[in-house]
Order: sequence, then C-alpha cells, then structure tokens
Amino acid sequence: MKYLRKIGIFLLVGIMIMALAGCGASKKASSGSGTFEGEAKGKNGVIKVEVTIENKEIKKIDVVENHESEFTKDTFTKVIDTIIAANSAEVDAISGATITSSAIISAVADAVKKSGIELTPKKTTEASAKAENTSTDVVIVGAGGAGFTAAIEAKENGANVILVEKNAVVGGNTNFATGGLNAAETKAQKEKGIDDSVELFYQDTMKGGKNKNNPELVKVLTENATKTVDWLTERGADLSDVGRMGGASVNRCHRPTGGAAVGAHLVEVLHTKAKELGVEIRTETKAVEILHEGNKVTGIKVKDGKGNEYNINAKATIITTGGFGASQDMVIKFKPELKGFGTTNGPGATGDAINLVQPLDVALVDMTEIQTHPTVVPGKGKLITEAVRGNGAILVNRQAKRFINELETRDVVSKAELEQEGQTAFLVFDQNVRESLKAIEKYAKLGLLTEASSVKELAEKIGVDAAELEKTVNTYNSYVQAKEDKDFKRSNMKTQLNKASFYAVEVGPAVHHTMGGLKINTEAQVITNAGEVVQGLFAAGEVTGGVHGANRLGGNAVADITTFGRIAGKNAVELAKK
Ligand code: FUM
Repeated sequence: MKYLRKIGIFLLVGIMIMALAGCGASKKASSGSGTFEGEAKGKNGVIKVEVTIENKEIKKIDVVENHESEFTKDTFTKVIDTIIAANSAEVDAISGATITSSAIISAVADAVKKSGIELTPKKTTEASAKAENTSTDVVIVGAGGAGFTAAIEAKENGANVILVEKNAVVGGNTNFATGGLNAAETKAQKEKGIDDSVELFYQDTMKGGKNKNNPELVKVLTENATKTVDWLTERGADLSDVGRMGGASVNRCHRPTGGAAVGAHLVEVLHTKAKELGVEIRTETKAVEILHEGNKVTGIKVKDGKGNEYNINAKATIITTGGFGASQDMVIKFKPELKGFGTTNGPGATGDAINLVQPLDVALVDMTEIQTHPTVVPGKGKLITEAVRGNGAILVNRQAKRFINELETRDVVSKAELEQEGQTAFLVFDQNVRESLKAIEKYAKLGLLTEASSVKELAEKIGVDAAELEKTVNTYNSYVQAKEDKDFKRSNMKTQLNKASFYAVEVGPAVHHTMGGLKINTEAQVITNAGEVVQGLFAAGEVTGGVHGANRLGGNAVADITTFGRIAGKNAVELAKK
C-alpha cells in the first residue's frame, strides 16, 4: 500500500513537471519569445518556415521545407530580410517572384499568428543612396544569361560594370532553359566519339531557320560556341553531358551531368562569378529611357523599386532584356494566329527594349517569327524539354498512334500536333528514358507525369485504346532494333520503350521564343534603319533578331545568349577604353 502511494506521488510530481514544462513554452510565447512554425502554399507546393522571436522581435526565419525553383533562392533571402527589418509579416511581395515571396510572407504570418505574440512593426529606413545619377564604363540592361555573360566578360577585361534588372530576381528566361547549349567540335563531343563539325552545325542552324537567318551571325554563333563552352566551364559550369535536340544532325546539346536542366545551373554559376568579380547588380531597377546625344548612346535612365528615377551614364550600353514571348499583346500584334496560346516565358519577357530604342530609329528584323514549343503542358505553361524526345520519347495522338518524326523542328512538330484531335498529344516514354535524363525528375516531382506499370495500364489511365498503344510502342521498338523508322524516318531512336514504369504527359504547343528583335552586326553593335551603327549601343540574346531566322533550333538560344553576350561585353570594354 505504502509502495503504491510512493508511485502515486512520483506520478503526480512527473505530471506537475510536465505541466510546468508545457506552461514554460506558452509562458515563453506570452513573454514574447519562442520558435514557431508556419506554412503556406508556394508555386510548387507547401513552404514551411520556423520563425524565432525574442522579446517580440523576429530574429530568425528558417525555411524548413520548400519545392520552389532553385533560382528563387534570392527571393527567399530578400523577403526574409525585409520581414526581419520590418519586424512584421505585413510587407510587399517581390515583383518577378510574386507567388513564392507571397507564400513566404503568408507562412511567416501563420507562424506569428500561432505564437500569439503581438509584434510592433519597425519603420524601415528608405534605402536611397543608390537612387542618384551615377557613371560607369559599361551599363547592361537585363540580368539573364546574356546580361551576366556580357557583365563578366566586361568586368574581366577591366571595366566597371553596372548590371540592372527590372525584376527582384535575376536570371530572366535563362532560369527556365532546360535543354542545353549547342556547340560543335567540343571536348565533350570528342570524348564521347561524336563526329560533328562547325560546318554541319552551321548547315543545321540555317536549315532549321528556313534560311531566313543572317548567315554572318550564324557563322559567328557556330564558330564561337565551342569557345563559349570552354569559357563557361572555366568559370564553373558543368556542360559535360551531350544530347540530341530537334533539327540537329548529331548530339551537340551540352548540359550538366546526367541531363540536368542547364538554365538554373548557368544562372547560379554566372551570378556567383559576377558577384565575386564585383559587378554591381541592381535589381528592381528598370531602364525607362536610353540617354543619347544624336546617334551616340550615353547611358540609361532607370526607375527603382521605390519609384525613384536617376541616370546611369556609361561609355557603353548593352541591351540584354530578352524577347517578348510573355506579352500576349505583342505576340498577337506580330502573329495574330497565336491568340490564346500559352507561353513558356517568365513574366519579365515583355519586349521592353523594342520601345526603349525607338528614338534611335533602330532596325527591327523578323518580328513576325515567333516560335511555339510543341511539348508544353496545357494550361500550366510547364515546358517538357525537347531532350526527353532526344533521349527516346515518342508522341502519340488520341488514337494512340504516332503522327510525326518527334525530332523534327519545333515548327513542324507544333503544326502536326495542332492537326490532331484535341490539338494536343501524349509524350510517352519508359523508365530507360527517365533514368537517362535528370530533368525528368522535376516533372515527376511536380506531378506532371502519369505513371503505369505496363503500356496497357498507361493507355487506360490516359484514355486511349490500349491495344493500339501497345501496337504503336511495339512497332516503334522494332524500328529501334532495326535502326530504321519505317513510318516517319526518325534518325535518332535512342532506346526501346520496354522497361517499366511507363510514363505519359499531355502536351501541346505554346509560345516559346521570339526570333525577331533589334538588328545587330557580328560585333553585337545595334544597327539603325539607315544601316548605321548606333554608337555606344550593343545588344545580345533574344532581344536581337537575325540569328535564328524563321525557327530556332533547341539548344541554340543558350548558345546565342552566351556567345553574343561575350562578344557584346568584350566590344563594350574596348569602346569604353577608347
Ligand atoms: O526543350 C527545351 O529544353 C528547350 C530548349 C531551347 O529552347 O533551347
């Protein structure tokens, strides 16, 4: 009995200690301190944060779970710093990364609400030291792949460089580039025994562009892309894997090991390098006017995130603002039949430079040449890289039949899809293909893939005739074995589709690349309607026209932005030094 009483006392004491500990936690919260969890829905899934509050002040915010794109990392830092500085979750979202930044803000607000702590917001000091006229050697407008490449080249050659970006997040459309970078006669190709030549690369590019390309620009691109691969590799990029893209005669699309996405990787490498070199990067800073004296450009007027306007005077100005694939109005203006099409472009690709250069009478070329990419998930704008087809996937229609050589150029495949019932198709592949290309993991993570243990089950899941899909896949596999596609003359059939699991994703065409833009010469100098060089003005990347003609080949955009970015950067410095 006595023994039982003792146990009772121990239990009581234990319960009291536990209760006190519990009180401690809530006491901590009511005393204004503690660590609290919150969550909200981001672009690609849940974002969870842990917010540490001490004496009613937010001291630390850790993002403990997120599925956002790699390139939004800067957004995380920026919005977290803003919340901590304001000691409040009532802050503005970040332009260019609205969904992700809003989700972080909401997750912090959730944590603060759960804490029960009332925070006193702090007044943040207006940062305006930079919002005044300044001078530099080279100013670059647009911090995507072309802008970064130009900035690094210019800085390494001795110039002071300011790189402005209208969005809060750097990288532009390069963040979304997946396939890779085309180059011929590279070390990686040689190591893999790929027999290619600059001449063949030139021929493929001209043919892909229906010979509408400016041959001189194509010559520069194809002759220099190899050096660009070396240049990027020397600065930390991994471009060791080589795959096939539509319209290419051989494998020449360079991408990170295992076929991972190229764009986010390059942005990370280039951004890091630019910061290391001391390139001054000003985000949320939009060019609103080109400063010029007659035909000579002397810099830009910009507007910062707080609405302040000021001039950046420069000896040379480089425009790398990208294309206009995100501007429905501009797309429809130049190609009305694309009304209602989705886009793979980030929200920043609005063709701002076209208006910006107007006072200089800059010539525009090929503006009506707008490319649709054939494998974009309808309604979601998510691009499924052409490399999936390059690594073996096929396209089938609602009758479960193939209808085109999947490695035809984008214009041809897009047109063929639009002729099918429902104007979309299913991209079908197997585990062999999945394992050959890291980029596919992202699609799986995003829930874009229908997965099945057999072709029959896959057919049932996507709603096509099972016997017909089995027949299509078996016939294709026999062509792979025989190394001859009797139906569509597809020359590159990497693997039989015979290893479970089997996958499908519905795809259709969406606006991808605007081939037209500012006229440039081989030195990346901008040209007027009168055929004169605009003094002090260079341009590179999708903002320019002429390189890709009527249709760009997959892998040629990244080659273009980095190759002409380097040329623009180098020539800008030479001019600045004069
Ligand atoms: O399909 C893709 O990965 C796209 C590549 C490109 O536009 O170059």
